[in-house]
Amino acid sequence: MERPEIPPEPKRRDFIKKSCAVIIGAVTGLIPLISGLMVFLDPLRRKVRDNNAVLIASLSSLPEDGVPRKFPVIADHTDAWNRLPRVPIGAVYLRRVGDKQIQAFNVICPHAGCFVDYDLSRKGYHCPCHNSSFGVDGKIADPKSPSPRGLDELEVEIRSDHEVWVKFQNFRAGEKEKIPV
Ligand code: FES
Repeated sequence: MERPEIPPEPKRRDFIKKSCAVIIGAVTGLIPLISGLMVFLDPLRRKVRDNNAVLIASLSSLPEDGVPRKFPVIADHTDAWNRLPRVPIGAVYLRRVGDKQIQAFNVICPHAGCFVDYDLSRKGYHCPCHNSSFGVDGKIADPKSPSPRGLDELEVEIRSDHEVWVKFQNFRAGEKEKIPV
């Protein structure tokens, strides 16, 4: 009677050694690939860090009576692969709340990202997409508004006594908290 053939011991050891070499080779090859990708994508991370103030308007261009005015935000835009000088990157509403005190809001509705309008007759902001309404102070005016939070207020700085600078930021829509994007 014939006995089944058992592979000789050295052959099996060879197979295990070769498999280990392949796995170690694959892992060591992945490390430089991952670090290369991180360097390549670094501008994306820098975009989050570069959050400088932008000159928006002069103080004299804002009405004394506190009615908000809308301004484009023009700044250098850097994404992962390009640096574009002086392009529109968003818009803000500015209004006087004191002699040299300015309040700034991002024009983007925190519900789903449409642009809000200022309605002079209602003395507040209104979003045409799903009817959120906000007071002139940016707070939710109508409890039926679907927006989960008031308008996103931005930091303002007056420089050289007449320049209005805003730390422009966008925030995640649909969240109760302001989460920068
Ligand atoms: S996007 Fe403004 S209410 Fe929905």
